[in-house]
Amino acid sequence: MHQNPHNKHIPVLLAEILEYVDPKEGERYLDVTAGYGGHAEAILSRTKNYTGSVLVDRDAEAIKELSRKFKQSNIVLVHQDYLGACSELLKNNQQFDIIVADLGVSSPHLNEVNRGFSFIDDGPLDMRMDQNQEITAWDVLNKSSEADLADLLWHYGEEPKARQIARLIAKERPINTTTELAAIAKQVWRSYSRSHPATRTFQAIRIAVNDELGQLEKALPIWLKLLSPGGRLAVISFHSLEDRVVKKFMVGESGDRYDASLRLPIKHPLLPGPLELVHNPRARSAKLRVAVKQK
Ligand SMILES: C[S@@+](CC[C@H](N)C(=O)[O-])C[C@H]1O[C@@H](n2cnc3c(N)ncnc32)[C@H](O)[C@@H]1O
Repeated sequence: MHQNPHNKHIPVLLAEILEYVDPKEGERYLDVTAGYGGHAEAILSRTKNYTGSVLVDRDAEAIKELSRKFKQSNIVLVHQDYLGACSELLKNNQQFDIIVADLGVSSPHLNEVNRGFSFIDDGPLDMRMDQNQEITAWDVLNKSSEADLADLLWHYGEEPKARQIARLIAKERPINTTTELAAIAKQVWRSYSRSHPATRTFQAIRIAVNDELGQLEKALPIWLKLLSPGGRLAVISFHSLEDRVVKKFMVGESGDRYDASLRLPIKHPLLPGPLELVHNPRARSAKLRVAVKQK
């Protein structure tokens, strides 16, 4: 994910995905976070199977861009969260050879001030990936109890000063803009060296608004069921909480057990190399894990 002049989203770890997912002509592809279609375009150009493939995203803007990008094909686009969309695919007995989940937000999310994901610019406290969803960041910040806020900052942001930040939020409410929220984190931290002190607070609120970890935990077993024998699942995560969930699932389903359902072609996650980071600094926290469904 990269801040670039055209507000385009640059697909992360694309070469590594292509190497380990190894798309073959005719294979059916399910992209559960299709975004702006970077990974999808590269994979579909190899499988050439558009009618047997499905692209999912919960963001209406992403779906609009995908329908422009793939307008010549009969590919199925689904505007829904991946948990709902994949449960539906499973009910309909669908099977796929490749499933890709490139988690989190896209560059347009971060660059578009009105979406409220960035603490750099002054925007509304929104942070919804799906604009039809009712609950926004404003609701979470202004309507949760101080104790719930502290829990959320601690668990979803791994924020060491969760209690102090929650206390100050409760004192200063209503909080109406992203810069007001960022200023609170800054006030609590006073001095900081590496990442901006609001990074963890924004991560926590965003995860809560979009139920990101809940979606992931519940969807992983469904993705396993949707994979055909020999099918590949690739998941790119952007923070340790997500990666922990993916690792626990993949390791739990693999191993030397006679009934293991997955095989892991790489034991450790792949990270972007220095060249990718020069072109796309937003890829810096990306981690790719791949699993292959046993026959
Ligand atoms: C990192 S971007 C994906 C970019 C894409 N791989 C590409 O190459 O353009 C993540 C996308 O996933 C979507 N997303 C995140 N969580 C989702 C969920 N639970 N269900 C459906 N879409 C989700 C976001 O709206 C965003 O567009």
